[in-house]
Amino acid sequence: MAETIVKVRNVYKSFGEHKILNGVDLDIEEGKITAVIGKSGTGKSVLLKNIIGILKPDSGEIFFKDRDIAKMNERELLEIRKNIGYLFQDAALFDFMSVEDNIKFPLVEQLGMKNGSELSGRVAELLDLVELPGIEKKFPSELSGGMRKRVGLARAIAVRPKIVLFDEPTTGLDPILAESIDGLIDMVNKELNMTCVVISHDIASVFRHADKIALLYDGVIQFCGTPKDALASNHEVLKHFISNSFRCAASETV
Ligand SMILES: Nc1ncnc2c1ncn2[C@@H]1O[C@H](COP(=O)(O)OP(=O)(O)OP(=O)(O)O)[C@@H](O)[C@H]1O
Ligand SMILES: [Mg+2]
Repeated sequence: MAETIVKVRNVYKSFGEHKILNGVDLDIEEGKITAVIGKSGTGKSVLLKNIIGILKPDSGEIFFKDRDIAKMNERELLEIRKNIGYLFQDAALFDFMSVEDNIKFPLVEQLGMKNGSELSGRVAELLDLVELPGIEKKFPSELSGGMRKRVGLARAIAVRPKIVLFDEPTTGLDPILAESIDGLIDMVNKELNMTCVVISHDIASVFRHADKIALLYDGVIQFCGTPKDALASNHEVLKHFISNSFRCAASETV
C-alpha cells in the first residue's frame, strides 16, 4: 500500500457568498499519478492552490506528510514549497525573463543556489529533459504554446520536488502535443519518482496514465478510484462526465 503524501481533510473555501469547496477530502498517494477531473469553474484550480498554500481554506486541514499546510506562515510555506512543484494553468512564465532566468528563479529563490555555472548546468539539464535543449536565451513570447508548457514543466520540477501539481497541462494543445506532455508527466513520475497530481479536461489522457481519478463536483470529491473503478462505477455524475467527455472528444475528430 502506497503512503499518503497529501491528505486534504474537510476543506471549505468560499469567495464572498460564492461557496466553492464544501468539505473536500482527498488522499494523494506517494509515487502515483492522481487526476482531478470536474467541469469548468467547479474549483479544481482553487483546490490545487489550497494544496500549495497560495490560497488558505476557510476551514479544514491539508497535510503534507503530517504537517498542516493550511496553518503555515509564509516562512514555513516557503520551506514546504521545496517539496511541491506547480505548473500553473496558463504556464505562467515571467514574460520579461528569458527561459533560463525563468527556470533559475525557483532554484535561486527556493534553494538559494548562487553558483552561476551550477545554475546554468541545471537549466541545461532541465531543458534537455523536456526536449528543448539550447533555448536558454529565448523569451516566452518567442515560444509556441506547447514549448511554454514544457518550459513551465521544467520550472515546476527544477527544485526536484517530491510532488508536482499540474493544472491543465495539455489544455489548448493539439492531440499530438498533448500526448507528448503526457509522456513527460509519465517520465517525471516514473523516472524522477515524483508524485503527480494532474487537473485535466482530457478524459482520454486521464484514462491513459492516471493511477487514480478524483471527481470534484458540487464542492466535494464525489468519487476517487482507479480508472477501472471509474469505468465500472454507477455514480451518475461520473458516468455522465465520462460519456460526455468521450462524446466531445469524438465529435472533435469528425
Ligand atoms: N481568487 C479568487 N477570487 C474570487 N473568486 C475566485 C478566485 N479564484 C477562483 N474563483 C472562483 O472560484 C470558482 C472556481 O474556480 P477555479 O478556477 O478553481 O475553477 P476550475 O475548476 O479550475 O475551472 P477550469 O476548468 O475552467 O479551470 C470560479 O467561479 C472562480 O470564478
Ligand atoms: Mg482551473
